[in-house]
Amino acid sequence: MDKLLIKGGNRLDGELRISGAKNAALPILAATLLADEPITIGNLPHLHDITTMIELLGCMGVDLTIDEKMSVEVDSSTISEFEAPYELVKTMRASILVLGPLVARYGRARVSFPGGCAIGSRPVDLHLRGLEAMGATVTVDGGYINASVDGRLRGAHIVMETVTVGGTENLLMAAAVADGRTVIENAAREPEVVDLAECLIAMGAKISGHGSDRLVIDGVERLQGCRYDVMPDRIEAGTYLVAAAATGGRVHLREARPEHLEVVLQKLEAAGARIDCGEDYIALDMEGRRPQAVSVRTAPYPGFPTDMQAQFTAMNAIAEGTSTVTETVFENRLIQTHEMNRMGADITIEGNTAIIVGQPELAGAPVMATDLRASASLVIAGLVARGETLIDRIYHIDRGYECIEEKLQALGADIRRLAD
Ligand code: UD1
Repeated sequence: MDKLLIKGGNRLDGELRISGAKNAALPILAATLLADEPITIGNLPHLHDITTMIELLGCMGVDLTIDEKMSVEVDSSTISEFEAPYELVKTMRASILVLGPLVARYGRARVSFPGGCAIGSRPVDLHLRGLEAMGATVTVDGGYINASVDGRLRGAHIVMETVTVGGTENLLMAAAVADGRTVIENAAREPEVVDLAECLIAMGAKISGHGSDRLVIDGVERLQGCRYDVMPDRIEAGTYLVAAAATGGRVHLREARPEHLEVVLQKLEAAGARIDCGEDYIALDMEGRRPQAVSVRTAPYPGFPTDMQAQFTAMNAIAEGTSTVTETVFENRLIQTHEMNRMGADITIEGNTAIIVGQPELAGAPVMATDLRASASLVIAGLVARGETLIDRIYHIDRGYECIEEKLQALGADIRRLAD
């Protein structure tokens, strides 16, 4: 298993291009199942999760052509299987996103139940209830979800009990080709949901309200081919901003969208960073300062993203002052703090809150990555720590960060991958 070896202490300084957003690319790839004609998706990031989704489509018989610039042309007319097998779903929960498109377009789907994972139980009950409200019959047997419908799904009025990104996306895709109007209330407002809606609109869907908590979808009989470029990854951008801030350094991010990171940028300013933004760039300069501790509380968009929580916890671990980080979206998502304490951080957990007493320095140590964003936080801790940090189980990080060591090296970090 690959490991990352980091020699901490270098101040990050440089320029980077932000990759396409994993969490927009995944539902958009699933949405290609809805079209009658080939769809070309551009700006896909080079990531394990993307390869897994491509593999999943491929094993259903979908025809995929990938070019060297990571554009993929998807022709779903050759589909022959309507199943997402356990072997793929277990490596990537987002496989559940094929459920809505399959049942809506082909009238049947069999998707392995995504089990628990490192950040809590993560049920999919709201995806299933929404599809049932649209007329699908859903049963669960042998660890698989079976969904079917005779003819088309029908439009429905759906009130989501909790804000769910994946649930909103699954129902949005299904509603795009359902018979009649669907209204989704308490919908997720995340930019990735908006990107999916824009792609569906480019395919001919009739959607309004995306970006608000009320989506209105007038189902159409068929969706056509199109070309669509995935939005830049706001979490990747946020991670490099925090890494630069934690090291007292500076970074200029190209192809980053500041409007997707408003709360994160506010918090970085509160930590002492100087931020300069344009339409498609974000520049951060800490001017050598140690960050001030900033408290955060996660919430659905436009609140503070749960996917940035671990990185801020790492920055707070070496910041001046005491802070609290409260996780409200997922249970059990503060586990990385135990590994940070092994590096000399002073973090205690009370319920869903981490209380962090900032330390003047951390010390490198062998640590273990537990999930995707937790791994990013250990990389940040390693960058600021004195001495060497060896991060094990970095396959988690390869699921969500394109060429992380090359990008950090370009910013002056001493980091390298050790292959086993
Ligand atoms: C997506 C993102 C993930 C991010 C999360 C929250 C992708 C591929 N992943 O995950 O990176 O951390 O949004 O921003 O886009 N819930 C239910 N019932 C359901 C569905 C969800 O109770 O049917 C709960 C979950 O347990 C969780 C909360 O809703 O507590 C939010 O989860 P959700 O927004 O669905 O996350 P994902 O779509 O899985």
